[in-house]
Amino acid sequence: MPENNLQEAEALREFIGEENESFFETLHRYRELMVRYSCAVREVRTKFEVLNEELTYHAGRNPIESIVSRIKEPMSIAGKLKRMGKPLTVASISENLNDVAGIRVICSFIDDIYRVAEMLSRQDDITVVAVKDYIKKPKLNGYRSYHMIVEVPVFFSDSKKIMRVEIQLRTVAMDFWASLEHNMKYKKTGADRPEIAAELKSCAEVIAATDARMQNVRMRIEALEKEIR
Ligand code: GTP
Ligand code: MG
Repeated sequence: MPENNLQEAEALREFIGEENESFFETLHRYRELMVRYSCAVREVRTKFEVLNEELTYHAGRNPIESIVSRIKEPMSIAGKLKRMGKPLTVASISENLNDVAGIRVICSFIDDIYRVAEMLSRQDDITVVAVKDYIKKPKLNGYRSYHMIVEVPVFFSDSKKIMRVEIQLRTVAMDFWASLEHNMKYKKTGADRPEIAAELKSCAEVIAATDARMQNVRMRIEALEKEIR
């Protein structure tokens, strides 16, 4: 078995199947669910790409810099369900986890985040389940991003499934901070020391101020453009 399949089988070994179900049947249902999540991610990604293309055409600049997406690894799925004290079953995954399908939208400016988030929310096949605005209300460590959990219908051969997708919207600058902070903190205890935490938070504040200034510069340029025309 290839390395990835081995890791998947290892993570799923503890999963409890339906009554009289073999491990391979459980594995099959797990993989089928992951295919659904991967299609849901594709649907939402396309929505952002469409918005980006149209807005770029009208405004002459792109509100979205890049989009990345991922499906949560089997190890992380099993780990999170365990931490939550939830059963290790395939049904439990979609019942309890909102972030199996994840998409990160990196925007140019802060106001672009709110614009594209609002445009997505208004689409009639999208249901917004939850919003966490860590830009208006940053986390104590300085983390900033706009998080949404949405539901999107996906049409398969014989059924329509409503799938949940976690969306993180942030500026290039917020992404820079979050990526480095994640790299440095991951499994490193030293990162919890007060002086290090304070330094990271201070960096986040400098970055946030720069984001605001960059948006202001853009607005001044736009105003000048209008005057000239
Ligand atoms: P998780 O159990 O980690 O998914 O968190 P949650 O269910 O409380 O949701 P929340 O919206 O707070 O965070 C979801 C995701 O945002 C995380 O999985 C990370 O990808 C990202 N995130 C949240 N807080 C931080 C942070 O302090 N630093 C970084 N680098 N990323 C963060
Ligand atoms: Mg998560």
